[in-house]
Amino acid sequence: MGEPAPFSTPLPMPQLIDAASQGNAVKLKVMSGMHAFIEGKPTRTYGYSAPVLGPVVRLRRGDEVKMTVENALDVVTTVHWHGLLVPGTNDGGPQQLIHPGDSWRPVLSIDQAAATLWFHPHPHRDTARQVYMGLTGMIIVDDGSDAELGLPRTFGVDDLPLILQDRSIDSDGSIEYDNNDLNQLDVIYGVRGETTIVNGAIAPSAKVPPGLVRLRLLNAANAQNFELRFSDKRQFYVIASDGGFLSAPVAVTQLTISPAERFEVLVDFADGKAVALENGPDEEMGVFGRVAADGSADYVPVMRFEPTATTPMVRKLPTRLVEPAAVAPASTVQRRQFILNSGLCASRPEAGVHANMPALIGINGKPYDIGRIDVETKLGTTEVWEVVSIGMAHPFHVHGALFRILSIEGAPPAAHLTGWKDTVLVEDKAELLVAFGRPATREHPFMYHCHILEHEEAGLMGQYVCA
Ligand code: C2O
Ligand code: CU
Repeated sequence: MGEPAPFSTPLPMPQLIDAASQGNAVKLKVMSGMHAFIEGKPTRTYGYSAPVLGPVVRLRRGDEVKMTVENALDVVTTVHWHGLLVPGTNDGGPQQLIHPGDSWRPVLSIDQAAATLWFHPHPHRDTARQVYMGLTGMIIVDDGSDAELGLPRTFGVDDLPLILQDRSIDSDGSIEYDNNDLNQLDVIYGVRGETTIVNGAIAPSAKVPPGLVRLRLLNAANAQNFELRFSDKRQFYVIASDGGFLSAPVAVTQLTISPAERFEVLVDFADGKAVALENGPDEEMGVFGRVAADGSADYVPVMRFEPTATTPMVRKLPTRLVEPAAVAPASTVQRRQFILNSGLCASRPEAGVHANMPALIGINGKPYDIGRIDVETKLGTTEVWEVVSIGMAHPFHVHGALFRILSIEGAPPAAHLTGWKDTVLVEDKAELLVAFGRPATREHPFMYHCHILEHEEAGLMGQYVCA
């Protein structure tokens, strides 16, 4: 197939930009470039100050960071700081267009707990294509707790960003995404590819110290859910979700990560054995789920870890992490329902109960309208948002706020889903306690949407203000 032999490519490490060490002034150039997914066959891609993907930007809590985003593309873009708690004017939503040749200069006040966030474009009707072409970067918010907790924190050594995506790569090495040539299945299921890439590489290999290693997992796929496990089925430990640390590590052997979600996990490589990270079939896709090249539906290797013979840097798993901030029940002022309908009841037998709903791509029967404010919220309050998925499971994301999952599919959330989050995969129904702590005006409202990017663009998005 022309793809590299598995594990022959070293895991690419994005550049680390430590904002504080450069006077809290960060420049990003949105550019096009060439990247070879297949060796010797470079293809046109997009990136942030890089041919593909972008840097990992580390921001310190309490700092003010002057961002400069220059658009060197020949199309309009925006940069949305996914998970960063900033006012609507700095959020980089569809209203905050950066025209070709222009720069955008938001000043970001960093005021939230340590977490792994990311950034990506958000121009209406071109988000999916621009992300697919490579526009994805990571943000690490540091509040000092890493050091206090004694967690692995040496970037690129025992603290690794892993940006997971899937692509269809032609035999000439090209990836293609044509907004005018999407077929109906691309819209119904979202655009998916048969090749998984990690930090832009196919089946790479990472050398790791023979101790605890922290992986910052980000699903930056357009639509694919990743079903992750290790080839030897070893236990690993979830320590953080989208909004920051869990109260204690949660042992798992398998982890589902839907588009835009992040999990930080600790993996113990003390046994010195090489092991593969594997991805299984996307259960949301039914018969259309990911299958191995031979047509089987088995787990396929995504990358490999090779412990080195050095001394481990961190050996001890902490027993406690950071208790997520409590929410005063009295702050809850509203209950709302959001019915996400992608117009097709594909893979879920129980979807039949929604058979009387109109087949329309939209939230509460309305497709996205950039000129319409759907919800008005009050700063400093919380609301219960009930999210109902129709058609298939939708990863629901809220800008400008974090939430706790009160219930999901009729039950309390699994332990690794009990922390603060900004994205949740809703198969049937979830109740979220959303805390509104940043203002947004009618000119620059916050979005909420399905993070299957083709669903978002087809209309599964709404806008809210907060004052
Ligand atoms: Cu990753 Cu509207 O967001
Ligand atoms: Cu969706």
